[in-house]
Amino acid sequence: MTLVLGIESSCDETAAALVSGDRTIVAQRIASQDDAHRPYGGVVPEIAARAHAERLAPLIEATLADAGCSLADVDAIAATAGPGLIGGVMVGLVTGKALAMAGGKPLLAINHLEGHALSPRLANPALEFPYLLLLVSGGHCQILLVEGAGRYRRLATTIDDALGEAFDKTAKILGLGYPGGPAVERLAATGDAKSVRLPRPLMGSAEPHFSFAGLKSAVLRAHQAGVHTPADIAAAFQQAAIDCVIDRTARALAAAGPVSALVCAGGVAANRAVRTALESLAAAHGLGFTAPPGALCTDNAAMIAWAGLERLAVSPTDADPLDFAARPRWPLDPAAEPARGAGVKA
Ligand code: KG4
Ligand code: ZN
Repeated sequence: MTLVLGIESSCDETAAALVSGDRTIVAQRIASQDDAHRPYGGVVPEIAARAHAERLAPLIEATLADAGCSLADVDAIAATAGPGLIGGVMVGLVTGKALAMAGGKPLLAINHLEGHALSPRLANPALEFPYLLLLVSGGHCQILLVEGAGRYRRLATTIDDALGEAFDKTAKILGLGYPGGPAVERLAATGDAKSVRLPRPLMGSAEPHFSFAGLKSAVLRAHQAGVHTPADIAAAFQQAAIDCVIDRTARALAAAGPVSALVCAGGVAANRAVRTALESLAAAHGLGFTAPPGALCTDNAAMIAWAGLERLAVSPTDADPLDFAARPRWPLDPAAEPARGAGVKA
């Protein structure tokens, strides 16, 4: 059975995992940096890079020890090589290269977005290609047609903020602290979404993309008006964001052709209200819906190891050169038409 060591360090989670070809997560460890970034209300890249540098090597050692393994038992090293905060990415990729070189193992330089994109197949063996994927995280908000490992067609992206970013900024405006998404979800459950009127940017638009910057500004104005409770604003924000997501995803479903399922991945896929709305949309199209369990939605190394295993399943001798460069930006579909907008990331 193929055993891959995954390494993830592209944002604020330092993570290592051992995953085998039969989808078993043999061991995994995640060191969150939430406490280090909380005073600043967001991720500080330099603090993140230093924390990765301090924590990654002992974390990998502990993960191997948890599994009763040594480097010799590992068949390949899969390390996130981008996109992300470049200092952190470099820490993980250099560590992966060193282990690959020392152990005489192949290196697989993994696109973090590919880790998210394939994570639903780690959790759900029945999920087959092609599927329509809503990838919603702190840095990205895309709809992708996933045709196979390494084969992605981007149907939509955000022209400004990512969905997770909108949750995080809303949390900051409402004083809910960092990280914001789970806090907004908890508070929204106690509020009345109808009591605050918020815009739904690009809803019904002929262009396929997302936009959340206007919604975030409207949240700020609603808060400053001083007449609504934070719970009502959180609920109204979450509902407006979900309405946009459903509208855009429905449009993509109509454009995508036949797919096996509607799938959601990335940190925001942990949100129950988002999942429930997508489940209903899928059902209305006669499709199944799947999303990984919450712990596999947010950043983790099991999805990076799994992306490596998917690549090896396609091509068993696959490997990247040891001079593979870390990439701060790395679109999954380089052929996708550029979207308009100053904040377009990929
Ligand atoms: O995938 P991820 O862990 O990191 C990136 O690659 O960005 O996603 C983190 C994002 C953050 O913006 C966080 O607020 C959001 O996912 N998030 C949530 C929830 N859990 C995490 N957003 C809404 N509801 C949640 N329950
Ligand atoms: Zn991520």
